[in-house]
Amino acid sequence: MNDRFLRACRRETVDTTPVWYMRQAGRYQPEYREIRKKYSLIDIVKIPELCVEVTTLPVQQLNVDAAILFSDIMVPLDPIGMPFEIRSGIGPVVDHPIQALADVERLHDLDPNDLSFMTETIKILSRELPVPLIGFSGAPFTLASYMIEGKPSRDYLKTKAMMYSDPKTWFALMNRLEKTIIDYLEIQVNAGAKALQIFDSWAGALSPDDYREYVLPTVQRIFQGISHLDVPKIYFGVGTGELLFDLKQTGADVLGVDWRVPLKEASPRIGNEIAIQGNLDPALLLAPWDVLKQKAMEIIDAGREHSGHVFNLGHGVFPTASVDTLKRLTEFIHEYGQRV
Ligand code: CP3
Repeated sequence: MNDRFLRACRRETVDTTPVWYMRQAGRYQPEYREIRKKYSLIDIVKIPELCVEVTTLPVQQLNVDAAILFSDIMVPLDPIGMPFEIRSGIGPVVDHPIQALADVERLHDLDPNDLSFMTETIKILSRELPVPLIGFSGAPFTLASYMIEGKPSRDYLKTKAMMYSDPKTWFALMNRLEKTIIDYLEIQVNAGAKALQIFDSWAGALSPDDYREYVLPTVQRIFQGISHLDVPKIYFGVGTGELLFDLKQTGADVLGVDWRVPLKEASPRIGNEIAIQGNLDPALLLAPWDVLKQKAMEIIDAGREHSGHVFNLGHGVFPTASVDTLKRLTEFIHEYGQRV
């Protein structure tokens, strides 16, 4: 088993910089687009053979050092009583958004039997993959934003309005998600996931004060609740440069950062007790090779100075990226990242 990803997460020595890409399975791959002609995203998630194939494809194609379970942050919501759809061209849409305390009180605990498709997929993957499998969950703020807005949002006005004007409902929702996320992640590790990532993609929309008051305590309790699981735990958000001092308090082993903060600057903000993951602007995948290569070198060099660096994009691969570019980039990272 290639373990350089896990070693970097644990801040141990590595032979070269490990790399994987958020959304490394997706529409930029012709094979994925072909499968999506016949199956919905949720079909793929729920059919173990298909899910194994889609999760494994980028490992074979790109030679990345970790696989991430093909799923979506919305998946645990249906089993707690919040049905949703993933609409093409829009994203996740929920049938009945949370508006009041009663809507939160209607939600219930996860029943692992409702997630047997996931357990089965993870068991197969952990047997067959040549690299560690990352399990994941959405974080409470990011999940709450979909549950309250009902669909993707730019400004999170309904979500913030609830935080400020109905803290009782907000914190009831936070408590519900805390329990759900802990249970969900534990199921994944018990099935064989070797690392966990918590996606708080939209946490960067909050001021540091609001993050500390309305979100951080729940995130801390989640990391506390999964601390007995002996796998590296990654916390990732977009636009979190100003939150990095607070994110050190979450309990994560690795912090994922986007490209808005140079890795050289993120590194001292995070400190050497926590590994770092990131942070190439995914738009650079469309740049000429020399431009892309230069940026990748800067990130690898900055990462070498930090105790524990996993190369990644600052956010997900987008549909117009090319498999060949990602393959070449991966090869270059492994070559240039070599420790002598
Ligand atoms: O390879 C992987 O990274 C694993 C698969 C994965 C998906 N979603 C599949 C998916 C992962 C890790 C996610 C997480 C996810 N989902 C996040 C957090 C990460 C991030 O990007 O910030 C969020 C916010 C979501 C919610 C979500 N799901 C949105 C906003 C969308 C629409 C965006 C789009 O690109 O269309 C989805 C749909 C979705 N989830 C796709 C994929 C591959 C789109 C492609 C499709 O419909 O086939």
